[in-house]
Amino acid sequence: MRAYSLDSWRDLPAAQQPEWPDPAELERVVKELAGLPPLVFAGECDQLKAKLAEVAQGKAFVLQGGDCAETFAGATADDVRNKLKTLLQMAIVLTYAASVPVVKIGRLAGQFAKPRSSSVETRDGVTLPAYRGDMVNGFEFTEASRVPDPVRLLRAYHSAAVTLNLIRAFTRGGYADLRQVHAWNQDFVGESPAGRRYDRLASEIDRALSFMQACGADMDEFHSVELYSSHEALILDYDRALTRIDSRSGLPYDVSAHFVWIGERTRQLDGAHVEFFRQIRNPIGVKLGPTTSPQDALALIDKLDPDREPGRLTFITRMGAGRIRDHLPGLVEKVTASGAKVAWICDPMHGNTFEAPSGHKTRRVDDVLDEVAGFFEVHRSLGTHPGGIHIEFTGDDVTECVGGGHEIAEDDLHQRYETACDPRLNRSQSLDLAFIVAEMYNQVH
Ligand code: PEP
Ligand code: CO
Repeated sequence: MRAYSLDSWRDLPAAQQPEWPDPAELERVVKELAGLPPLVFAGECDQLKAKLAEVAQGKAFVLQGGDCAETFAGATADDVRNKLKTLLQMAIVLTYAASVPVVKIGRLAGQFAKPRSSSVETRDGVTLPAYRGDMVNGFEFTEASRVPDPVRLLRAYHSAAVTLNLIRAFTRGGYADLRQVHAWNQDFVGESPAGRRYDRLASEIDRALSFMQACGADMDEFHSVELYSSHEALILDYDRALTRIDSRSGLPYDVSAHFVWIGERTRQLDGAHVEFFRQIRNPIGVKLGPTTSPQDALALIDKLDPDREPGRLTFITRMGAGRIRDHLPGLVEKVTASGAKVAWICDPMHGNTFEAPSGHKTRRVDDVLDEVAGFFEVHRSLGTHPGGIHIEFTGDDVTECVGGGHEIAEDDLHQRYETACDPRLNRSQSLDLAFIVAEMYNQVH
C-alpha cells in the first residue's frame, strides 16, 4: 500500500486560491467541515472508477455536464430536476441511438468554485475582485459581496448535500424509471424539432421495453439510474477538509464528490493541486488545453496514475474547434504508445468562448459541434476510443450560446442570459448535440 500525506500540498504553490481576509475564521470553518458527514462513499467512487475503466477500454461512453458555476440559489427542486431531466434525455439518446452504456456524471453538487483569468473585474471604471464562485464570494458587483468569506465553504457543503439528496431521490425514487422516457419530454414536444425527434425515439424505447417485459425481463436498470457527482476541486482547503480515510481500505478519498478534476489553470506539475490529487483514491480528471505537450501529459500520468490503473485518470481535452485536429493527435499517440490506459473525454466548450459585441461571453453551437467532430475524427484515425463529452448545459431555455436549432443570434443573448460564469447550452441545444454525438459514435464503431 502506498503511503499518503494529505497535507503535503501545503508546501507547494497553489494557484487560484482566494485571499481569505481572516485566517482564523477559515481555520474554524475548515475544522467544522472536517467533522461533517461524507457526501459520497468511497465504495461509490470505486464503482465509478470501474465504470471509467470500461470507458478507457473502449466499452462505454461518458456524459459529464451541468452548470459552469452552480449557485446556492440554484439548489432548488425545480432547477435540479430540469438539469437531471435534460441529462437523462441526452443519456437515453446516446444509449439507444449509439447502443453504448453511458456513464452519467453531473457537474453538480459541488461545482461552486471558479478559476479566473483575471483576479479583478472592472465595470464602468470601478474595479473589484473577480467573482470566484458562490463557494468563495458573491456574484453581486459590490465591494462587500466580492470579499471572500469562509462561511461560504460551509454553505457550499450544505448546498451540495441538498442537491445530492434531490438527485438520489429523483434517480432512485421512480422519476428516472425508463417508463418515464416520454414524461421527461412532456413540456418540450411540439416546441422544438429536437423534442419531436426525441419523442419518436421514446416511443421506440417504450415498445422495446414492453416487449422485454412481456418476455419476463425486468432489470433494476429499467427503474433507476446511477448519476455521479463531480466538480473542479479548486479550493484545496474545502476538498482537503472533506477527505477521509476509508475504513475498508485504509485509503483517503475526497468524499465531497465521486469524481473531481484539475482545471487547465491549476495543472502545474509541481503545484499544490497535482500534489493533493496524487493522494486521493477517487477517479480523477485533468483538463488539457491547447498548450499541453505530450511530455506534460506523460508527466501527469506518472504523477497521478503511477500504477496505470484503468479508470483512475481521465483526460478532458479542451482545445478549441480550430486547434483540436492539430493538437490532439500527438497527445493521444504518445500517451497510447506509453501503455497508459486513460479515458479521453472532449470538452468542446472551454476552447470556444468569445465575447459578443453586446459584452456577453458566448460560444457558437457550430464551434462546439466542430470540436466534437474533430475529437471523433482524431480518435477514428488513431484507432483509439472517443470516450465521452464534458459540457456546460442547463435544463432551461436560456439564450447563452449562439446558433443551434432555434438559431439564437448574438443580438438575442440578453433575452435570457442567466449563467453565473460561462455560457451554457440550453435544453434543445443539448438534446441536438446528443443526437449528433450518437451519429458520430455510430460512424466510429
Ligand atoms: C470549467 O470547466 O468551467 C473550466 C474553468 O474549465 P478549464 O479549466 O478547462 O478552463
Ligand atoms: Co466553464
